[in-house]
Amino acid sequence: MDDILRGKKILLGVCGSIAAYKVAQLARDLTLAGAQVDVIMTEAATRFVGAATFQALTGRRVLGDIWALPEDGVIGHITLGAQADLVVVAPATANRIAKIAAGMSDDLLTMTILATHAPVLLAPAMNPQMYAAVATAANVAVLRARGYTVLEPDEGRMAEHVVGKGRMPEPPVLEGEIRALLGRNGPLAGRHVVITAGGTQEPIDPVRYIGNHSSGQMGYALAARARDLGARVTLISGPTMLTPPAVVALVRVGTATEMQAALSEALVGADMLIMNAAVADFRPAEMSEQKIKKSGDAGLTLHLVPNPDIIAGLAGRRDIFKVGFAAETDDMLANAQGKLERKGLDMIVANDAVLSIGQPEIALTLVDRGGVTNLPRQPKNAAAAALLDEIVTRFQRWRV
Ligand SMILES: Cc1cc2nc3c(=O)[nH]c(=O)nc-3n(C[C@H](O)[C@H](O)[C@H](O)COP(=O)(O)O)c2cc1C
Repeated sequence: MDDILRGKKILLGVCGSIAAYKVAQLARDLTLAGAQVDVIMTEAATRFVGAATFQALTGRRVLGDIWALPEDGVIGHITLGAQADLVVVAPATANRIAKIAAGMSDDLLTMTILATHAPVLLAPAMNPQMYAAVATAANVAVLRARGYTVLEPDEGRMAEHVVGKGRMPEPPVLEGEIRALLGRNGPLAGRHVVITAGGTQEPIDPVRYIGNHSSGQMGYALAARARDLGARVTLISGPTMLTPPAVVALVRVGTATEMQAALSEALVGADMLIMNAAVADFRPAEMSEQKIKKSGDAGLTLHLVPNPDIIAGLAGRRDIFKVGFAAETDDMLANAQGKLERKGLDMIVANDAVLSIGQPEIALTLVDRGGVTNLPRQPKNAAAAALLDEIVTRFQRWRV
Protein backbone atom coordinates (compact mmCIF):
# COMPACT_ATOMS: atom_id res chain seq x y z
CA MET A 1 0.00 0.00 0.00
CA ASP A 2 1.21 3.43 -0.91
CA ASP A 3 1.67 6.38 1.39
CA ILE A 4 -1.85 7.56 2.23
CA LEU A 5 -1.01 11.03 0.83
CA ARG A 6 0.08 9.79 -2.60
CA GLY A 7 -2.26 11.04 -5.33
CA LYS A 8 -4.69 12.68 -2.87
CA LYS A 9 -6.25 16.01 -3.84
CA ILE A 10 -6.01 18.40 -0.92
CA LEU A 11 -7.48 21.88 -0.97
CA LEU A 12 -5.59 24.05 1.46
CA GLY A 13 -7.41 27.23 2.47
CA VAL A 14 -5.01 29.78 3.97
CA CYS A 15 -6.50 32.70 5.95
CA GLY A 16 -5.29 36.03 7.32
CA SER A 17 -3.31 35.10 10.41
CA ILE A 18 0.37 35.37 11.25
CA ALA A 19 0.39 31.56 11.45
CA ALA A 20 0.00 31.53 7.63
CA TYR A 21 3.80 31.35 7.31
CA LYS A 22 3.84 27.96 9.03
CA VAL A 23 1.43 26.51 6.50
CA ALA A 24 4.02 26.94 3.75
CA GLN A 25 5.92 24.09 5.43
CA LEU A 26 2.76 21.97 5.50
CA ALA A 27 2.12 22.62 1.79
CA ARG A 28 5.67 21.51 1.06
CA ASP A 29 5.51 18.36 3.21
CA LEU A 30 2.18 17.25 1.73
CA THR A 31 3.44 17.87 -1.82
CA LEU A 32 6.68 15.94 -1.18
CA ALA A 33 4.64 13.00 0.14
CA GLY A 34 2.82 12.85 -3.20
CA ALA A 35 -0.38 14.85 -2.60
CA GLN A 36 -1.74 17.35 -5.10
CA VAL A 37 -2.09 20.50 -3.04
CA ASP A 38 -4.22 23.36 -4.35
CA VAL A 39 -3.93 26.44 -2.21
CA ILE A 40 -6.79 28.91 -1.90
CA MET A 41 -5.68 32.14 -0.25
CA THR A 42 -8.12 34.60 1.25
CA GLU A 43 -7.44 38.21 0.45
CA ALA A 44 -6.25 38.79 4.01
CA ALA A 45 -3.89 35.80 3.75
CA THR A 46 -2.04 37.51 0.88
CA ARG A 47 -1.11 40.30 3.34
CA PHE A 48 0.85 37.77 5.39
CA VAL A 49 2.46 35.42 2.83
CA GLY A 50 2.97 35.77 -0.91
CA ALA A 51 1.13 33.49 -3.32
CA ALA A 52 4.48 32.87 -5.04
CA THR A 53 5.66 30.93 -1.97
CA PHE A 54 2.77 28.45 -2.15
CA GLN A 55 2.96 28.26 -5.93
CA ALA A 56 6.66 27.38 -5.82
CA LEU A 57 6.16 24.80 -3.04
CA THR A 58 3.14 23.04 -4.54
CA GLY A 59 3.92 23.48 -8.23
CA ARG A 60 0.28 24.55 -8.69
CA ARG A 61 -1.36 27.89 -9.44
CA VAL A 62 -2.62 29.52 -6.24
CA LEU A 63 -6.33 30.26 -6.30
CA GLY A 64 -8.27 33.04 -4.71
CA ASP A 65 -10.11 35.28 -7.10
CA ILE A 66 -13.53 33.84 -8.03
CA TRP A 67 -13.68 36.13 -11.05
CA ALA A 68 -10.34 35.03 -12.50
CA LEU A 69 -11.57 32.47 -15.01
CA PRO A 70 -9.10 29.65 -15.62
CA GLU A 71 -7.56 29.31 -19.06
CA ASP A 72 -8.68 25.70 -19.50
CA GLY A 73 -12.21 26.64 -18.52
CA VAL A 74 -12.56 23.44 -16.50
CA ILE A 75 -11.87 24.35 -12.90
CA GLY A 76 -14.89 26.27 -11.77
CA HIS A 77 -15.71 27.43 -8.27
CA ILE A 78 -17.77 24.29 -7.61
CA THR A 79 -15.58 21.62 -9.21
CA LEU A 80 -12.68 22.40 -6.88
CA GLY A 81 -14.60 21.22 -3.84
CA ALA A 82 -16.24 18.35 -5.69
CA GLN A 83 -12.90 16.85 -6.72
CA ALA A 84 -11.13 17.25 -3.40
CA ASP A 85 -10.37 14.32 -1.10
CA LEU A 86 -9.99 16.73 1.81
CA VAL A 87 -10.37 20.45 2.50
CA VAL A 88 -8.02 21.92 5.11
CA VAL A 89 -8.42 25.44 6.47
CA ALA A 90 -5.18 26.46 8.17
CA PRO A 91 -4.82 28.85 9.78
CA ALA A 92 -8.56 29.26 10.30
CA THR A 93 -9.31 32.81 11.46
CA ALA A 94 -12.17 33.74 13.78
CA ASN A 95 -13.67 35.54 10.81
CA ARG A 96 -13.47 32.47 8.58
CA ILE A 97 -14.90 30.15 11.23
CA ALA A 98 -17.85 32.55 11.62
CA LYS A 99 -18.42 32.73 7.86
CA ILE A 100 -18.37 28.96 7.40
CA ALA A 101 -20.69 28.45 10.39
CA ALA A 102 -23.09 30.99 8.88
CA GLY A 103 -23.04 29.20 5.50
CA MET A 104 -21.74 32.22 3.64
CA SER A 105 -20.25 31.93 0.17
CA ASP A 106 -18.78 35.30 -0.67
CA ASP A 107 -15.38 34.13 -1.86
CA LEU A 108 -13.69 31.05 -3.30
CA LEU A 109 -12.89 29.39 0.02
CA THR A 110 -16.38 29.71 1.52
CA MET A 111 -17.98 28.62 -1.77
CA THR A 112 -15.73 25.59 -2.01
CA ILE A 113 -16.54 24.52 1.53
CA LEU A 114 -20.26 24.81 0.93
CA ALA A 115 -19.97 22.79 -2.25
CA THR A 116 -17.75 19.92 -1.09
CA HIS A 117 -18.58 16.39 0.01
CA ALA A 118 -15.01 15.94 1.26
CA PRO A 119 -14.19 16.06 4.97
CA VAL A 120 -13.20 19.52 6.20
CA LEU A 121 -10.44 20.07 8.75
CA LEU A 122 -9.99 23.46 10.42
CA ALA A 123 -6.97 24.56 12.45
CA PRO A 124 -7.94 27.72 14.37
CA ALA A 125 -5.24 30.30 15.10
CA MET A 126 -6.04 33.50 16.90
CA ASN A 127 -5.58 35.63 19.98
CA PRO A 128 -6.63 33.59 23.07
CA GLN A 129 -9.40 36.03 23.89
CA MET A 130 -10.78 35.79 20.37
CA TYR A 131 -10.76 32.00 20.65
CA ALA A 132 -12.44 32.05 24.07
CA ALA A 133 -15.08 34.56 22.89
CA VAL A 134 -18.63 33.22 23.22
CA ALA A 135 -19.29 33.86 19.51
CA THR A 136 -16.23 31.87 18.39
CA ALA A 137 -16.98 29.02 20.80
CA ALA A 138 -20.55 28.85 19.48
CA ASN A 139 -19.33 28.83 15.87
CA VAL A 140 -16.81 26.08 16.60
CA ALA A 141 -19.56 24.02 18.27
CA VAL A 142 -21.81 24.48 15.21
CA LEU A 143 -19.07 23.31 12.87
CA ARG A 144 -18.27 20.26 15.00
CA ALA A 145 -21.96 19.34 15.20
CA ARG A 146 -22.03 19.43 11.38
CA GLY A 147 -19.20 16.92 11.18
CA TYR A 148 -16.27 19.27 10.55
CA THR A 149 -13.05 18.44 12.37
CA VAL A 150 -12.02 21.56 14.30
CA LEU A 151 -8.68 21.11 16.06
CA GLU A 152 -8.01 22.52 19.50
CA PRO A 153 -5.40 25.28 19.30
CA ASP A 154 -2.20 24.83 21.31
CA GLU A 155 -1.46 26.80 24.44
CA GLY A 156 1.63 28.96 24.56
CA ARG A 157 3.18 32.28 23.62
CA MET A 158 1.42 34.05 20.77
CA ALA A 159 3.09 36.29 18.18
CA GLU A 160 1.84 39.34 20.10
CA HIS A 161 3.58 37.94 23.24
CA VAL A 162 0.41 37.13 25.19
CA VAL A 163 0.25 33.59 26.54
CA GLY A 164 -2.85 31.46 26.19
CA LYS A 165 -4.76 29.01 24.01
CA GLY A 166 -4.82 30.11 20.39
CA ARG A 167 -1.68 28.87 18.62
CA MET A 168 -2.14 26.83 15.47
CA PRO A 169 -0.87 23.27 15.96
CA GLU A 170 2.53 22.76 14.31
CA PRO A 171 2.70 21.46 10.70
CA PRO A 172 3.64 17.84 11.63
CA VAL A 173 0.55 17.67 13.86
CA LEU A 174 -1.61 19.02 11.04
CA GLU A 175 -0.10 16.44 8.70
CA GLY A 176 -0.96 13.67 11.18
CA GLU A 177 -4.54 14.87 11.43
CA ILE A 178 -4.75 15.01 7.62
CA ARG A 179 -3.41 11.47 7.33
CA ALA A 180 -5.89 10.18 9.92
CA LEU A 181 -8.80 11.78 8.07
CA LEU A 182 -7.69 10.46 4.68
CA GLY A 183 -7.25 6.98 6.16
CA ARG A 184 -10.52 6.93 8.08
CA ASN A 185 -12.03 4.17 5.90
CA GLY A 186 -8.79 2.17 5.58
CA PRO A 187 -8.33 -1.54 6.32
CA LEU A 188 -7.95 -0.92 10.06
CA ALA A 189 -10.96 1.40 10.38
CA GLY A 190 -12.83 0.73 13.60
CA ARG A 191 -9.93 -1.29 15.05
CA HIS A 192 -7.98 -0.50 18.18
CA VAL A 193 -4.31 -1.27 17.71
CA VAL A 194 -1.92 -1.21 20.67
CA ILE A 195 1.78 -0.82 19.92
CA THR A 196 4.70 -0.84 22.35
CA ALA A 197 7.93 0.94 21.41
CA GLY A 198 11.36 1.86 22.68
CA GLY A 199 13.38 0.27 25.44
CA THR A 200 12.56 0.04 29.13
CA GLN A 201 14.81 1.50 31.83
CA GLU A 202 15.26 -0.48 35.05
CA PRO A 203 16.52 1.78 37.85
CA ILE A 204 19.64 0.90 39.80
CA ASP A 205 19.55 4.08 41.91
CA PRO A 206 17.91 7.51 41.44
CA VAL A 207 20.25 8.44 38.56
CA ARG A 208 21.27 5.14 36.92
CA TYR A 209 19.43 2.44 35.07
CA ILE A 210 19.84 -0.70 32.99
CA GLY A 211 18.66 0.04 29.47
CA ASN A 212 19.28 -0.90 25.85
CA HIS A 213 19.94 0.77 22.49
CA SER A 214 16.33 0.71 21.25
CA SER A 215 15.48 4.12 19.73
CA GLY A 216 11.73 3.58 19.37
CA GLN A 217 11.88 4.54 15.67
CA MET A 218 10.32 1.32 14.43
CA GLY A 219 7.43 1.34 16.90
CA TYR A 220 6.69 5.03 16.28
CA ALA A 221 6.69 4.46 12.51
CA LEU A 222 4.37 1.45 12.96
CA ALA A 223 1.99 3.59 15.03
CA ALA A 224 1.91 6.33 12.36
CA ARG A 225 1.23 3.76 9.65
CA ALA A 226 -1.55 2.04 11.64
CA ARG A 227 -3.18 5.47 12.11
CA ASP A 228 -2.92 6.12 8.34
CA LEU A 229 -4.73 2.82 7.72
CA GLY A 230 -7.66 3.93 9.88
CA ALA A 231 -6.84 2.40 13.28
CA ARG A 232 -7.30 4.00 16.66
CA VAL A 233 -3.79 3.63 18.01
CA THR A 234 -2.42 3.51 21.53
CA LEU A 235 1.37 3.77 21.65
CA ILE A 236 2.98 2.64 24.89
CA SER A 237 6.50 3.96 24.82
CA GLY A 238 9.65 3.62 26.84
CA PRO A 239 11.75 6.80 27.17
CA THR A 240 12.80 8.17 23.74
CA MET A 241 13.67 11.53 22.18
CA LEU A 242 11.18 11.01 19.34
CA THR A 243 8.16 13.21 18.66
CA PRO A 244 5.08 11.02 18.95
CA PRO A 245 2.89 10.72 15.85
CA ALA A 246 -0.15 13.02 15.95
CA VAL A 247 -3.59 11.55 16.65
CA VAL A 248 -2.00 8.55 18.39
CA ALA A 249 -2.73 8.15 22.13
CA LEU A 250 0.67 8.09 23.82
CA VAL A 251 1.33 6.42 27.17
CA ARG A 252 4.84 6.97 28.49
CA VAL A 253 6.37 4.33 30.75
CA GLY A 254 9.80 3.70 32.27
CA THR A 255 10.13 0.11 33.47
CA ALA A 256 8.93 -3.26 32.20
CA THR A 257 6.51 -3.47 35.12
CA GLU A 258 5.02 -0.09 34.18
CA MET A 259 4.75 -1.22 30.57
CA GLN A 260 2.89 -4.35 31.65
CA ALA A 261 0.43 -2.29 33.72
CA ALA A 262 -0.16 0.22 30.90
CA LEU A 263 -0.65 -2.61 28.46
CA SER A 264 -3.25 -4.45 30.50
CA GLU A 265 -5.28 -1.22 30.65
CA ALA A 266 -4.87 -0.44 26.94
CA LEU A 267 -5.73 -3.96 25.82
CA VAL A 268 -9.30 -3.86 27.14
CA GLY A 269 -11.37 -4.25 23.97
CA ALA A 270 -8.31 -4.00 21.68
CA ASP A 271 -8.07 -5.88 18.37
CA MET A 272 -4.34 -6.10 17.86
CA LEU A 273 -1.11 -5.91 19.83
CA ILE A 274 2.25 -5.21 18.21
CA MET A 275 4.85 -5.78 20.90
CA ASN A 276 7.78 -3.91 19.41
CA ALA A 277 9.35 -2.58 22.63
CA ALA A 278 12.71 -3.86 23.76
CA VAL A 279 11.65 -4.86 27.26
CA ALA A 280 14.44 -5.58 29.73
CA ASP A 281 14.56 -9.27 30.65
CA PHE A 282 16.05 -8.48 34.06
CA ARG A 283 15.88 -5.68 36.62
CA PRO A 284 17.86 -4.95 39.78
CA ALA A 285 16.28 -6.84 42.67
CA GLU A 286 16.25 -3.59 44.62
CA MET A 287 16.64 0.04 43.69
CA SER A 288 18.99 1.96 45.99
CA GLU A 289 17.23 4.99 47.48
CA GLN A 290 20.51 6.93 47.40
CA LYS A 291 22.98 7.34 44.58
CA ILE A 292 25.44 4.44 44.92
CA LYS A 293 28.87 5.83 45.82
CA LYS A 294 32.18 4.54 44.60
CA SER A 295 34.28 3.20 47.43
CA GLY A 296 37.96 2.95 46.58
CA ASP A 297 38.72 0.09 44.20
CA ALA A 298 35.80 -2.03 45.35
CA GLY A 299 33.59 -3.33 42.53
CA LEU A 300 29.84 -3.48 42.54
CA THR A 301 27.70 -6.55 42.11
CA LEU A 302 24.11 -6.09 41.07
CA HIS A 303 21.61 -8.79 41.80
CA LEU A 304 19.14 -9.01 38.93
CA VAL A 305 15.75 -10.70 38.94
CA PRO A 306 13.70 -11.60 35.85
CA ASN A 307 11.05 -9.24 34.57
CA PRO A 308 7.67 -10.67 33.62
CA ASP A 309 7.49 -11.98 30.04
CA ILE A 310 4.71 -9.56 29.10
CA ILE A 311 3.52 -11.08 25.85
CA ALA A 312 3.77 -14.69 27.06
CA GLY A 313 1.51 -13.61 29.92
CA LEU A 314 -1.15 -12.75 27.34
CA ALA A 315 -1.25 -16.24 25.81
CA GLY A 316 -4.84 -16.62 27.02
CA ARG A 317 -6.03 -13.57 25.04
CA ARG A 318 -7.14 -15.36 21.87
CA ASP A 319 -9.35 -12.39 20.95
CA ILE A 320 -6.33 -10.20 20.09
CA PHE A 321 -4.09 -10.64 17.05
CA LYS A 322 -0.66 -10.67 18.63
CA VAL A 323 2.57 -9.79 16.90
CA GLY A 324 5.86 -10.26 18.75
CA PHE A 325 9.39 -9.19 17.86
CA ALA A 326 12.50 -11.28 18.24
CA ALA A 327 15.81 -9.42 18.10
CA GLU A 328 18.37 -12.21 17.95
CA THR A 329 22.13 -12.43 17.72
CA ASP A 330 22.19 -16.12 16.72
CA ASP A 331 19.92 -18.86 15.29
CA MET A 332 17.40 -16.16 14.37
CA LEU A 333 14.85 -18.29 12.55
CA ALA A 334 14.86 -21.21 14.99
CA ASN A 335 14.57 -18.88 17.96
CA ALA A 336 11.72 -16.95 16.32
CA GLN A 337 9.81 -20.13 15.51
CA GLY A 338 10.27 -21.34 19.09
CA LYS A 339 8.95 -18.04 20.50
CA LEU A 340 5.93 -18.06 18.16
CA GLU A 341 4.74 -21.33 19.71
CA ARG A 342 5.91 -20.84 23.28
CA LYS A 343 4.34 -17.40 23.62
CA GLY A 344 1.13 -18.16 21.74
CA LEU A 345 1.69 -15.44 19.09
CA ASP A 346 -0.01 -15.10 15.72
CA MET A 347 3.10 -13.74 14.08
CA ILE A 348 6.67 -12.95 15.01
CA VAL A 349 9.02 -10.46 13.39
CA ALA A 350 12.65 -11.50 13.66
CA ASN A 351 15.64 -9.27 13.08
CA ASP A 352 19.33 -9.28 13.69
CA ALA A 353 19.75 -7.46 17.00
CA VAL A 354 23.24 -6.12 16.23
CA LEU A 355 22.34 -4.86 12.75
CA SER A 356 19.00 -3.31 13.70
CA ILE A 357 18.62 -2.02 17.27
CA GLY A 358 19.29 1.72 17.29
CA GLN A 359 20.19 1.64 13.56
CA PRO A 360 18.34 3.64 10.86
CA GLU A 361 17.78 0.58 8.62
CA ILE A 362 16.38 -2.88 9.24
CA ALA A 363 15.82 -6.20 7.47
CA LEU A 364 12.90 -8.27 8.75
CA THR A 365 12.01 -11.94 8.72
CA LEU A 366 8.31 -12.57 9.31
CA VAL A 367 7.32 -15.94 10.75
CA ASP A 368 3.80 -17.25 11.18
CA ARG A 369 2.20 -20.68 10.97
CA GLY A 370 1.94 -20.26 7.18
CA GLY A 371 5.70 -19.89 6.68
CA VAL A 372 8.48 -17.32 6.43
CA THR A 373 8.56 -13.99 4.52
CA ASN A 374 11.68 -11.86 4.17
CA LEU A 375 11.56 -8.06 3.87
CA PRO A 376 14.81 -6.53 2.56
CA ARG A 377 17.00 -4.12 4.55
CA GLN A 378 15.50 -0.62 4.19
CA PRO A 379 14.99 2.58 6.24
CA LYS A 380 12.83 1.91 9.31
CA ASN A 381 9.94 4.08 8.07
CA ALA A 382 9.68 2.09 4.84
CA ALA A 383 10.20 -1.20 6.71
CA ALA A 384 7.42 -0.26 9.16
CA ALA A 385 5.01 0.52 6.32
CA ALA A 386 5.82 -2.76 4.53
CA LEU A 387 5.58 -4.70 7.79
CA LEU A 388 2.25 -3.21 8.75
CA ASP A 389 0.82 -4.13 5.35
CA GLU A 390 1.94 -7.75 5.96
CA ILE A 391 0.41 -7.66 9.44
CA VAL A 392 -2.90 -6.30 8.08
CA THR A 393 -3.11 -9.08 5.47
CA ARG A 394 -2.63 -11.73 8.16
CA PHE A 395 -4.99 -9.95 10.57
CA GLN A 396 -7.75 -9.96 7.96
CA ARG A 397 -7.22 -13.68 7.31
CA TRP A 398 -7.17 -14.40 11.07
CA ARG A 399 -10.49 -12.63 11.60
CA VAL A 400 -12.48 -14.82 9.18
C1 LIG B 1 -1.22 41.55 12.15
C2 LIG B 1 -2.54 40.86 12.15
C3 LIG B 1 -2.62 39.57 12.63
C4 LIG B 1 -3.83 38.89 12.66
N1 LIG B 1 -3.87 37.60 13.14
C5 LIG B 1 -5.05 36.97 13.21
C6 LIG B 1 -5.13 35.67 13.72
O1 LIG B 1 -4.12 35.04 14.11
N2 LIG B 1 -6.33 35.06 13.80
C7 LIG B 1 -7.49 35.69 13.40
O2 LIG B 1 -8.55 35.11 13.54
N3 LIG B 1 -7.42 36.93 12.88
C8 LIG B 1 -6.26 37.58 12.77
N4 LIG B 1 -6.22 38.84 12.25
C9 LIG B 1 -7.44 39.44 11.72
C10 LIG B 1 -7.79 38.88 10.36
O3 LIG B 1 -6.71 39.05 9.47
C11 LIG B 1 -9.05 39.56 9.83
O4 LIG B 1 -10.15 39.17 10.65
C12 LIG B 1 -9.34 39.21 8.40
O5 LIG B 1 -10.53 39.84 8.00
C13 LIG B 1 -9.49 37.72 8.21
O6 LIG B 1 -9.81 37.44 6.88
P1 LIG B 1 -9.98 35.98 6.33
O7 LIG B 1 -10.74 35.21 7.31
O8 LIG B 1 -10.76 36.18 5.05
O9 LIG B 1 -8.62 35.45 6.03
C14 LIG B 1 -5.01 39.53 12.19
C15 LIG B 1 -4.92 40.82 11.69
C16 LIG B 1 -3.70 41.49 11.66
C17 LIG B 1 -3.66 42.88 11.10
